[in-house]
Amino acid sequence: MIPPSKTSANGRYAQITGWGMSVPEKVLTNADLARVVDTTDEWIVSRTGIKERRVVAGERESTATLAIRAAREALLVAQVLPAQIDLIIVATATPEYAFPATASLVQDALGASAAGAFDLSAGCSGFIYALSVAASAVRSGSADHVLVVGSETLSRITDWTDRNTCVLFGDGAGAVVVSACNERCGVLATELGSDGSGGDLLIVPGGGSHRPACHESVSDGSHFIKMNGREVFRFATTVVPRATEAVARKAGWKADELDIIIPHQANVRIIESAAKRLSVPVDKFFVNLERYGNTSAASIPIALTEAIRAGRVKPGDRMVMVGFGAGLTWAAAALEWGVPIPTRPLPWWRRLFSPVLWLFAGLRSVSIRTERRVYNQIMGPVGKDDWRGHLRRHTDTLRRRVRAWLKR
Ligand code: UT7
Repeated sequence: MIPPSKTSANGRYAQITGWGMSVPEKVLTNADLARVVDTTDEWIVSRTGIKERRVVAGERESTATLAIRAAREALLVAQVLPAQIDLIIVATATPEYAFPATASLVQDALGASAAGAFDLSAGCSGFIYALSVAASAVRSGSADHVLVVGSETLSRITDWTDRNTCVLFGDGAGAVVVSACNERCGVLATELGSDGSGGDLLIVPGGGSHRPACHESVSDGSHFIKMNGREVFRFATTVVPRATEAVARKAGWKADELDIIIPHQANVRIIESAAKRLSVPVDKFFVNLERYGNTSAASIPIALTEAIRAGRVKPGDRMVMVGFGAGLTWAAAALEWGVPIPTRPLPWWRRLFSPVLWLFAGLRSVSIRTERRVYNQIMGPVGKDDWRGHLRRHTDTLRRRVRAWLKR
């Protein structure tokens, strides 16, 4: 019998059809860090498994630029046009701004004219939370294609004098396109959890409404990551196996029936401990943290992309993705892989087509901004009772009607 969680009431399922990643060029090795803080390559490798990480260099790289690059690649793989995307979710703990949402910046850069967009904050579990929302939107029929991005520039909130944290984190982004399908595959079950009583164990205390940015908050380093590593480690070693088992059960599988597990890439010791508790061979866990460190919400989609590229994912595979992090939060998703994995690079004409698409998206954005500025200058302020005010009201109504007509 098919377990209830494996059926969909309306015959719609949500599968990953595109994937992509983007990491900054700049590599920071353990040896580089040993020149800045009191640490050694030996300590970092033996306690975490991390050998190097990528960090953004200069103002031209940010959470949004990494997200946009990863998203473009995912759309290319999925062969989905920006105008076909219904929703964009960016999971991040390091958004571009408090507002607007990084997702809206991604939407504008892609020219995704029909997409809603919002950011999601659930620490390192954020990507799975976003995937769960995306899968629900697709299965319910409210969306056909959802772009889910995990993007972080943790180097911007890292205290480079704190050896307890600065050796762990890195920057990067990963993205997937979640699309509707009629066959039973894709995201079959999710498991989300939170224990807010552990909020202070992994926190950036400054810069929010509780402690807004001020001279004191900057000078005492409140805008940097503070972490109780031992407590988070203990939490992680408990929730990773528990959430993996729970989500597998919801999908109708046992842990030892899984083909691949994509865990949050925080510490290889956490992954080894989870493998032991689940009685699953550790090589079923995909690990790439030695090259990127902990990239928070980006770590799972980056690992997924690399696992696919390395030939570790095949159609029909039973996969679990599992994360944990600030909140405290945890999240897992069980997927039956549904789409073929391309064995050859995309044809040249498709590669050539996409820069043209992004050029149009850029032109679209510039023209909308320019039109808004020019229109406001000609029409003057809203609500005035002179001839410009009347003209504005009439023109606004006309524009609304034209937009509604174009949307039909
Ligand atoms: O996405 C979620 C984010 N967070 C995590 O996943 C973190 C989970 N926690 C961990 O991965 C581990 O707890 C750490 C890697 C952070 C630390 O490993 P540990 O084995 O738990 O070390 P510890 O905190 O118990 O510290 C052991 C010693 C301490 O010295 P004393 O007090 O024993 O003298 C630390 O001061 O290691 C010292 N230490 C370091 N030494 C060299 C801490 N950081 C460093 C360092 N280099 N970078």
